[in-house]
Amino acid sequence: MALRRRVLLSLLLLLLLPLLSYRILAVELTSTNMHPVVQEFQRAELSCLIATTNTAHPRIEWKKIGKETSYVFYGGKMQGTWVNRAQLHSRTSLIIFNVTREDKGIYRCEVVAPEDQNIGAEININLTVHVKPVAPRCRVPQSVPVGKSATLYCQEKEGFPEPTYTWYRNSEPLPMDSKSSPKFQNSSFTINTKTGTLAFSEVQKGDTGRYHCIASNNVGSAQCEEQEMEVYDLNIAGIIGGVLVVLLVLLLITVGICCAYRKGVFVINKQNGNSYKTPAKPDGVNYIRTDEEGDFRHKSSFVI
Ligand SMILES: *[C@@H]1O[C@H](CO)[C@@H](O)[C@H](O)[C@H]1NC(C)=O
Ligand SMILES: *[C@@H]1O[C@H](CO)[C@@H](O)[C@H](O)[C@H]1NC(C)=O
Ligand SMILES: *[C@@H]1O[C@H](CO)[C@@H](O)[C@H](O)[C@H]1NC(C)=O
Repeated sequence: MALRRRVLLSLLLLLLLPLLSYRILAVELTSTNMHPVVQEFQRAELSCLIATTNTAHPRIEWKKIGKETSYVFYGGKMQGTWVNRAQLHSRTSLIIFNVTREDKGIYRCEVVAPEDQNIGAEININLTVHVKPVAPRCRVPQSVPVGKSATLYCQEKEGFPEPTYTWYRNSEPLPMDSKSSPKFQNSSFTINTKTGTLAFSEVQKGDTGRYHCIASNNVGSAQCEEQEMEVYDLNIAGIIGGVLVVLLVLLLITVGICCAYRKGVFVINKQNGNSYKTPAKPDGVNYIRTDEEGDFRHKSSFVI
């Protein structure tokens, strides 16, 4: 019985030994956070930890991977712009004291351990930098006639993650859809919180007011200055009245010119009419039709 047990145990050891030795001889890396997310101007820790190694002094390198891969830590020291901005922590992790938006990206932690079976290992850390929005750019039409459509724009381009937008009228927040709130029953607008547009399908008198917008994401928010939108009546009665007055004036002028003209013609006729009539065209057809005569006389008056 004892022999059998021993044989079994040795067999088991024989099976496990290569696995165990492989594990012991391999350099292995882990990370407590492969996707750190930090706010701009804060400290970032890029965690890279040696889980197993046989090598007493493994070589450690950090690179920033991108269009151009560059060394962050190499040859036992920080490189280039990183000299005063970063340092190693717990032997292999990288601390960046004051990250900026340009620091986002993939960082590769590489460890070379010559005394291990597989002499190298690497791990990629994806650093995300969140950025507060700055004051958005807002466009509000100054004046819009009642019943027309109108669109107000709000846009912010620095914030990351991309901000969402809320609109305010006279410092009061507006719902995404005017129809969703009894308070805004008389309005007809919708807000796109992703693009920042506030669109009125038909502007009403009550939509007059001071508008502003706030762009916000998980790290902050910023607003644009209030801008006034005025809604005016397209005064139909006034317009018709105005048109009528213009027409009346035009009519009076026309009548005036006509009268003056007729008088003028009459005078010319007195002077020339006889001399025209006395030579007397033999047919005299023209003289029977008075309107023709008028035409004729007009022409003659121009000629003379
Ligand atoms: C962090 O970096 C920014 C821009 O490089 C700089 O304006 C700011 O003063 C720095 N903050 C600290 C605490 O060093
Ligand atoms: C890094 O993280 C960002 C944000 O989550 C993601 O968009 C990007 O695809 C990631 N990059 C890689 C190489 O995984
Ligand atoms: C909407 O308009 C009606 C009629 O003009 C008015 O009686 C009502 O008070 C208005 N409602 C709001 C919320 O302004």
